[in-house]
Parts: sequence; C-alpha cells; structure tokens
Amino acid sequence: MAAQVSGQIATVMQEKRLFPPTAEFSAHARVKSLDEYQALWENAAADPSAFWAALAREELHWFEPFQETLVWNEPDAQWFVGGKTNVSYNCLDRNIEAGLGDRQAIVWEGEPGDQCTFTYAQLHEEVCKFSNCLKQLGIGKGDVVSIYMPMVPELAIAMLACARIGAIHSVIFAGFSAEAIADRNNDANAKIQLTSDAAWRRGKQLPLKAIVDEALEKSSTVQKCVVLKRVGNEVPMQSGRDFWWHELMESASSDCPAEPLDSETPLFILYTSGSTGKPKGIKHTTAGYNLYVKKSFQWVFDHREDDVFWCTADCGWITGHSYIVYGPLSAGATVVMYEGAPNHPDESRFWQIVEKYKVSIFYTAPTAIRAFIKWGDEHVTKHDLSSLRLLGTVGEGINPEAWMWYHKTIGGERCPIVDTWWQTETGGIMMSPLPGAIATKPGSCTKPLPGIIPEIVDEAGDLVDANQGGWLTISQPWPGMLRGIWGDEERYRDVYWSKVPGKYLAGDNARCDEDDYYWIMGRIDDVLNVSGHRLSTIEIESALVSHPLVAESAAVGRPDDLKGDAVAVFVVLRDADPNDDLRKTLKQHVRKEIGALAQPDDIHFTNALPKTRSGKIMRRLLKDIAAGKETVGDTTTLEDYSVLAKLRSDEE
Ligand code: PRX
Repeated sequence: MAAQVSGQIATVMQEKRLFPPTAEFSAHARVKSLDEYQALWENAAADPSAFWAALAREELHWFEPFQETLVWNEPDAQWFVGGKTNVSYNCLDRNIEAGLGDRQAIVWEGEPGDQCTFTYAQLHEEVCKFSNCLKQLGIGKGDVVSIYMPMVPELAIAMLACARIGAIHSVIFAGFSAEAIADRNNDANAKIQLTSDAAWRRGKQLPLKAIVDEALEKSSTVQKCVVLKRVGNEVPMQSGRDFWWHELMESASSDCPAEPLDSETPLFILYTSGSTGKPKGIKHTTAGYNLYVKKSFQWVFDHREDDVFWCTADCGWITGHSYIVYGPLSAGATVVMYEGAPNHPDESRFWQIVEKYKVSIFYTAPTAIRAFIKWGDEHVTKHDLSSLRLLGTVGEGINPEAWMWYHKTIGGERCPIVDTWWQTETGGIMMSPLPGAIATKPGSCTKPLPGIIPEIVDEAGDLVDANQGGWLTISQPWPGMLRGIWGDEERYRDVYWSKVPGKYLAGDNARCDEDDYYWIMGRIDDVLNVSGHRLSTIEIESALVSHPLVAESAAVGRPDDLKGDAVAVFVVLRDADPNDDLRKTLKQHVRKEIGALAQPDDIHFTNALPKTRSGKIMRRLLKDIAAGKETVGDTTTLEDYSVLAKLRSDEE
C-alpha cells in the first residue's frame, strides 16, 4: 500500500473495487443512473434557492406559504422565511390526509420480546393526547422538554408531541449519568423531565428514574417529571413533581390541532461532544430540518411504499432523530423500532427481527458490523434475510473488510450499501451513494447529495488536488444545517465558521479521488469516535481530574477492532499509589461523571505528561504509546525528553 502525504494527513487506502447497482435495482430506483444523479446535483448547484424552494412547496404542508427561501447572514441561516408549518403535522396529519391512516408507522419490539404496532392514525391519536398532557403540565411554545427514556414508542410520541405544540425537546441518551443529565438540563433551561421507571438492557433493569431523581436535585429549572411505567418496578414518586404517564393519558383528549409554527421555530437541541469539555447543544429548527431529513431519507434509502425500514440507532443520537422519527415518518414509511441489545437473548437477535418483520432496508453502525463478524456467521445464516434489498452504515468509516462481510453475509451480494457521512450538526445525510445511481467503493461515502457542495481545503483555505487529504468543508448553506449552539453564539462562529472563511468546517479530514469519490479520514480535533459516538478527550480528562487523587490526565484514542477508538488515559496521581484498585475506582468515576460509554479501557499511571514548551500535551506521542507503537516524527518541542522514556518503561 502506498501512502500519500499532504501536510500531516497521510492516506494509505488504495481501494479499487467498484460495485455498481444491479440493472434491476436501478430500474426501480428513484434516481436510476449516474447521469440522472449528476443532472439533479448540477441543477441544485446552479440555483440552490430555487431547488430547495420547489421541494419545500412539494414536500411539506404550509399553513402559510414562505416568502423568502433563504436569508443568509453568515453564519446565521434562515430558511423558508415567513412560512408556517409543523413537523408533527407533516409526519402524521399530512400522511393521514393522503390516505395512509391505516399504514403501519411504528412496529416496535421490546427487549423481552413484547411487541406493538402503531398505524399512522393510532400514532396521531397518541401524539395528540400526549401533547395535551404536556399542555396541562404548563408546557407550551419555546419550553424545553428533557427526555431520558428507553427506546419505546412513547419516546417517539413524546418527541412528536413537543413538535406539535412548539416545545423544544432535548433527548439525552439513556446511558448518560445523572451528572451529564443535570449539565444538559441546566444548559438548556429545561422545564420538564420525561423518563421511565427503568429500562431493559441485556435482561437487566437500568434504573432510569433513580438516575433522574439524582439529576433533578441539581437541575434547578426542572419543575415536573413524567414517568412512563416500562418495567413495572417500584419507584418513589415525589408528590407535586412526579406524574405517571398512564394516569395523565387516561383523561387526555385526543383533539390537539398542530400549532402553525414559523419556519425557524426551534425543534430540538441535541448535545454532542466538541473539543472542549462542555458539550455543545446543537440547535435544529422546524421547516429546513424537516425538508432535509425527508428528502435525504427518500434519496439515500430509495424509499418505496412497501419498504420496512429499520435503523438500529437510539433516539438519543441524531441518527434516531432524523432516520427513526422525522425523516421516515414524514415520508410515510413503516419503521421498525427495537428496544434492546443486539446480543440479547443471543447474538442472532437482529437477524431474527429482520426475518420476523421482513425488513427491507437495514441501517446500522460499523461498530455493530464488527461485533457481528466477531460473533460468527452462524447467527446470521440460520435466518432468512431475503427481504433485505438495501443496507446502510453511519457513524464512522467502515473498513473494506467489514464492508465486504456486510455485502456478502448480510446483503447476499445483492443489496447495495449506502455508507452515509453526516453529523449531528448537518441534521441529515450529506454524502452517500444514491443506491440506484452511484456505484460503491468499499470505505467511501462516495458523493454529495443534491444541494450539498463539499470542498476539501488546506489550512490556508485553498482547494487541494485530487487524492490530497485536507479539511472537509461545505461551501453553501443547506436547509438541514444547525442553526447554532444553544446559548453560545460565539462558540458556533468559532468552531464552524472562523477557520475557513465563508465555509462550514465539518471537523473531519477527507480526500476526494480521481472519480470524485469522497473518503473520510477521521477528525481534525480532539474528538474520539467510540462505537460511533462522539466523545471529547477533554470531557474525559475533566472527569478524571475531578477525582481527588488525580492531579493531571490526558485521554487519547487507541485503535480498537470493535469500538473504533478505545479510550486510553494517562493519569498523574497526587499522592497515591498506582494500583489496580485505583484503576477500577477511576473507571467507575468516569462512568459516574459521564456515562458508561466514556469509561476508559486502559489507564496508564505516569509521573508526568509529555508537553511542548508552551505547555500543550503532546497527544500524538501518547497515541503512539497507547497503541503500542514506536514514536515517529518530531519530538524536538518536547519539554522534557525523560518523560517519554519514563512512559515507555512504565509500559514494559
Ligand atoms: O467523524 C465523522 C463521523 O462521525 C462524526 C459525526 O458524529 P455525530 O455527530 O455523533 O453523528 C454520527 C451520526 C451521523 C463525523 O464528523 N462519521 C459519521 N458518519 C461517517 C463518519 N466517518 C466516516 N464515514 C461515515 N459514514
């Protein structure tokens, strides 16, 4: 393998395999050929406003039409200005009016094997009722609703109910700790908390209400809490603050017309890690986000009426927001939602679900694919997966070996694979094959969606040549883009819009090959990708330093076959003996501060950290040590060479 080097960014990948869609797939696809895709993309690029305006009129319901397509005062975008619409209306009422009331909207399976289905009409009724419950509890337009729930239909119902009345949801993944919930609640000024008694996870109960009780002690703005009975365990209810979901719903009316909302009404906040310790509340708004997730869903997943779509993400992440709830439901799709783990009660659970519900489109993360490979083909081959016609991946790059396994073992060599690149900030998929039109190369997210104009630049902001690595930027606003960081305009400008003038800086390195295929090469900042989830090294370091025995720490990623990045931390102790018990204590401590997903895999104790003369931790060196590699490259700015030698000898 030849390495190509541009500045600091080296590419060693020389993947030459090309997988065109079958003639049969293309013949039935929404976009049928490369020429058709090219024409669509060029049409959008020639006049983005006209392109998006026409789609917005076609695809969304408008209580009042918009006057202006885009008002762009970099970095602030306003889309479809003057219009009034409602995301919940577009997902429910509009489909029912189109005659889809009896179509299955959500087909849900619980981890213990219980199941239920909501048609569009039934979902509409539940959403209206819960909207009225929220109103009864004093929630209205602009109020922030914090949601900490398992993957049950009520989670989607709660999101849609917020959208219906103009409240803003902030969904917090049910693996985060009480501390993490309180931080997010305080940052967002959340007014109410939604949760459940507990959640099922690999047959065990995760005590969500108990975690919420601890979080609410530190969330001064949250006045009320609604609790869904999921598991049926005893939980203490605080009189005047806590309400049972089922009791509120019993008396709620199912009449709740959707509120006509200005296009730019905030729809949700979703917290994600950046390169500083404080998570960023990414803000998305109503009309632009809705249009973008609907269209991207249709283009990328080539959605047809009879499809059964299963995205295995959790609604606590952007993938669940955009491709379990808002994208598929506004397109009138049938969505499978599964509550639990892929290996409970055994490793064939996902394939059992695919067979049982005849899933035709399956969308998952490379980390899951690597786990399936490890578990063995026998769990897959005993199930009939012939209903599948399209596969997708999201969250991190997929290595070509895993891609080939997915293609052969899950896709039976007949299903195209859409490798979708996007971010919490982009709202929806930005680059991906359109499966009937674009031949795939394993490991490449291929080409931009219509209306998306990526550019790869060097640190001076100049375009780089083909196959040269550089910073991935987007040079035109798009409707699904974030509208800011909640409560922190300066950080928004600084992180995304200041380093390359006039362009959105995604924070990823990428290259574009001679066929105009894009290859994502990883983050440019100190963000780890652990099992497809973003974690900032500084958040982990802050958590460690909050322990009384820790003086200083540095967190880095170590390549891991299953997780992508494993979390390796280097810890300088205050006045304590390094030992395995302390390792365990510190792992537990990070778990408590942030959540299980941030728990360090390796803890290295050291007397000092390698630093530059200006005091910056030399992460590159630590990464090499964490990965067990010889240190390569420049160490001349090391403040104290002996530190490096010491760290190495500690490893031996
Ligand atoms: O580094 C990229 C990686 O995940 C980051 C976005 O993470 P998050 O906001 O949590 O959203 C994940 C789900 C959309 C990106 O900056 N990433 C995401 N998809 C891919 C990817 N890296 C390579 N290939 C992808 N398909």
